[in-house]
Formats: sequence, C-alpha cells, structure tokens
Amino acid sequence: MELTPEIKSKLDKLQEKYEAMGQDMAAYLDGLLYADFLTYWDYIHLDTLLSLQSPKTPFPDEEIFIMYHQITELYFKLCLHECKQIAEHSALTVEFFTARVKRINAYFNALTSSFDVMVDGMEKEQFLKFRMSLLPASGFQSGQYRMIEICATDFTRLVDKSKREELAGASIEEKFENIYWKFGATELASGKQTLTLKQFINKYAAQFLQLVKDREQTNFSILYTKFLNDGQDVSLLAEELRKLDLFVNVEWPLSHYKSAVRYLERDPVDIAATGGTNWQKYLPPRFQKRIFYPFLWTEEQLEEWGKAWVLSVLKTIKK
Ligand code: HEM
Repeated sequence: MELTPEIKSKLDKLQEKYEAMGQDMAAYLDGLLYADFLTYWDYIHLDTLLSLQSPKTPFPDEEIFIMYHQITELYFKLCLHECKQIAEHSALTVEFFTARVKRINAYFNALTSSFDVMVDGMEKEQFLKFRMSLLPASGFQSGQYRMIEICATDFTRLVDKSKREELAGASIEEKFENIYWKFGATELASGKQTLTLKQFINKYAAQFLQLVKDREQTNFSILYTKFLNDGQDVSLLAEELRKLDLFVNVEWPLSHYKSAVRYLERDPVDIAATGGTNWQKYLPPRFQKRIFYPFLWTEEQLEEWGKAWVLSVLKTIKK
C-alpha cells in the first residue's frame, strides 16, 4: 500500500523531531513496532489499585471504610495537583487561578456530598469492633489534608485561635508549634498528646515546614491579595475562594463530624473506640474557627462561622 501524503508529512515531522535531539528515528519506529497495544487496565494500574485493600479484621464493612478513605485521599491528591499548578505557574493570571480553585471546589463538593457512604454506609456494630483493631491510626493522620490547608492560606491562619494574634509575627517554626491540630487528638482525661498525634508529627513535621516555606509567597491568600493590589478584577476569584473556605472549613468538617457522632456518640464504648480523644470538643467547626480568608467575610459571618446560618449563605453563593 502507498504511503499517503499525510503519513509522509507526519514521518517528516517525526524525523525533524528526532534529528533535533540527535536521535535515530528508525530505532524509535522499531520500538513502536514491538510495543504492545495499551490496555485500560495497564494504563490506570487497575490490578494494583484493586489490590490495595487489606482489612485487618473479618468484618465486611471494614472494606468500605478502607476504600472510602482511599477515594478521599485520591481527591486530596487532585486538590494538591491544582494547588501546585497555581503556586508554580510562571505567569499566573486571575483566570487560571479562578479556574483551578473551581476544580478544587468540585472535588470538595464530591467529597462532601458522598460522605453519606460513611455516615449511613456501615453497620455501627461492625464499625465499633473493627475500629478497635485500627488504633492508634486515625484519619487525623491525613498528611494531604494538612497540605491543602498550607497551600490555601497564610500559615498564621492555621495557628490555634487562642494564639493566632499573638504569634502573627513569629517564626514559621514557632507557629508550627501552635498549629491548631496539635490541640486535637489529645487524651481527654489527661490532655496529653496521643500516640496518633506523636506519630503524625514524627512522619510529617519536616515536610510540612518545607511546604510552608515554599508557599510563603505563593499561598492562595497572598496570591489573591497581590492581584487585588494590582487593581485586577478579582470578584469571581473571591467567590471561588469563599466557596473553598466553606467547603474545607465548614462543609466537609460537618459531614465528617456527622459520621463521628453517628458511630461514636451515646455508646458505652464511646471513649475506647476513639482511643479516648477530645474529638467532641475538637472537631466541630464552630469551635475551631478555621477560616482561610477572613477578609472575604463580614464580621457577622465570621462570628457565626460553622453555624447553620453560614450554610444557608453557601446555598446563595452556590447559585
Ligand atoms: C465512620 C467514619 C469516621 C469516623 C467515625 C471518624 C472519626 C474521627 C475522629 C474521632 C477524629 C478526631 C481525631 C481523633 O480523635 O482521632 C477524626 C479526625 C479526622 N478524620 Fe475522621 N472519621 C471518619 C472518617 C474519615 C474519613 C473517611 C476521612 C477521610 C480521609 C477522615 C479524615 C479525618 C481527618 C482529616 C481528621 C482530622 C480533622 C481535623 O483535624 O479537624 N475521617 N475522625
């Protein structure tokens, strides 16, 4: 069969491409000749993905627990993928920034609306049993969740609210000593750090500190302020950032909190099943008052943070 002009022109272009790199096109064509056709399962590493569920107990619902955590971590990875693109863009525009934050919001929307898979999706009796085999592991130890926060806001905003003002001008290390989550996963009875918290810090502290330094001038908060000060139209960006603030700091925490209440509250083994932590005081968003962009909210909205009223605001923002 004759080679068509289109094929010839493509071969010429390929020849140019390889020549430019000092490569022999014929050798690469050999490679193409011997290569297998790509399959769906190889491309997405399906067999590996489906082999990553290893329950610690015989309770069937433990697999749901494992898989939903894995799904969540993949969504967190998608969020961080967007955070990186924003922070490391060589010529960032408001449009690109807005479009990427919109993607993160879509991921958090998916996570928030799917959380019923946890809340109603497992038998409480099974959960309370298999949970005991997982201690001291906890979703609290999700490093990606904390990295999203670091990328999204000025690090001072992640300092516990009792120390936030006082430490505004302090070093990154000092702020890290007082990061809000060090006040979670503590023993209810003694107030001491749990093993859960200690292991989490051991594994991630250096990585978190490095990311804080890397994002000092490229976190979402500072990038937004730069565009605002440049006199650019940031109204759509502000709207997406407000949604992000509500998704990460109110909506997802509330869906998550619902599952903690459903499985852990009002039960005689309550305390044991959480490892005896202070979660009831720690988890509700209205207690923590984590807010990425206080300058995008009114005094009243800040005051009411995490209460039902803020959610009704979200509905109007969502449109
Ligand atoms: C039945 C389902 C769940 C229950 C009962 C539950 C329970 C808890 C509890 C009690 C805490 C407080 C820390 C502690 O005392 O250990 C916590 C924290 C946390 N969990 Fe879960 N969890 C559930 C599902 C999930 C899922 C699916 C994820 C997804 C990764 C997750 C991620 C987190 C995160 C990121 C924290 C820290 C929150 C913060 O610092 O504000 N949890 N969880």
